[in-house]
Amino acid sequence: MIFGHDKVEILHLPTPLERLNNVSEDLGINVYCKRDDLTNLATGGNKLRKLEYFLKDAQDKGATMLITEGGAQTNHGRLTAAVAAKFGLKCAIVTEDKYPGEISANLLLDGMLGCPVYFVKDMETGRQAVIDKYTAEGEKVYYVPMGGSNEIGMLGYVECAMELDKQARGLGIGDASVYVTVGSMGTYLGMLIGLKECGSDLSLVGINVLPYAEDAADEAGNETALREALSEYYKRVCDFFPEYSDSWNITPEDFNIVTHYIHGAYNNAVDTVRDVMYYLARKEAIIIDPCYTGKTFEAVVDGAESGSIKKGSDVIFMHTGGLPGIYTRHHRVELERELMPYMHIDEF
Ligand SMILES: Cc1ncc(COP(=O)(O)O)c(C=O)c1O
Repeated sequence: MIFGHDKVEILHLPTPLERLNNVSEDLGINVYCKRDDLTNLATGGNKLRKLEYFLKDAQDKGATMLITEGGAQTNHGRLTAAVAAKFGLKCAIVTEDKYPGEISANLLLDGMLGCPVYFVKDMETGRQAVIDKYTAEGEKVYYVPMGGSNEIGMLGYVECAMELDKQARGLGIGDASVYVTVGSMGTYLGMLIGLKECGSDLSLVGINVLPYAEDAADEAGNETALREALSEYYKRVCDFFPEYSDSWNITPEDFNIVTHYIHGAYNNAVDTVRDVMYYLARKEAIIIDPCYTGKTFEAVVDGAESGSIKKGSDVIFMHTGGLPGIYTRHHRVELERELMPYMHIDEF
């Protein structure tokens, strides 16, 4: 129970917190990985913790169907479909993106999970049309917002922060810096609140990958816009949980966020991100994704190499999942081009 809200237990928690020995030795800092990619439905990922709380809320409201939205390759949509499948609910995903010309990556999994994906021209009218269609068919629709980031969804990461604090103390790294990806913000804000709530000494660094300013290449503009968005979200959360929020005292100065790793656009193919994906795979056999976790891990490697993360300090990298992203066409073509030398065809 977090802030008076229950969940449906879906996951095998806690997820592991493990030291990455090879990377630590190589970088000269102590790197730990919180394996939220090892959450147990449909290739896993951070959205499942949020969905434990959404599912309870949906069940309490008598819902028969979950409808959510996002990019065509939304990890959140795939995991919403997974939870719906497992708990006997219908599901649909609405996206404003164009059909990418192939059923790959998350779209493939959405279909396998039996979840229709609606490619609409305009989100407002498209979303409503999809909700109306299923309502007319007799479904009781529960709408889950993009990325699962609202007052309910972030509870999953309040809980995760408390879990992490306990694990980190147990390993003697209770004052580590925690690097986490910021997309729709629920993971970051939930963790920030959770760490405050349990009096943790862990500090949170948010690596933003989803531009909040008009110009995705404008780092400073994105930082300002993200700070505003986080402040608004935090205010909504405080209003929603008035009997708990008094003690948090979170101010904009608490938002330790970095917008340098957007790299000019959301979900773009970036060679330096692929470099750290190869690095982590080859050192630790951990696969990260090109859209979210690759950018965050790049910040960790850069920090160690530049000295902005001091030698010997403790860092926790939040692995929030996203594996299917490597099978998206525009990432796959780059990966295939670079990995072709590993293919020895008819050599012997
Ligand atoms: C793999 C992965 N990591 C991190 C995030 C960011 O989480 P949030 O949207 O809660 O900021 C997402 C969001 O889609 C994701 O799919």
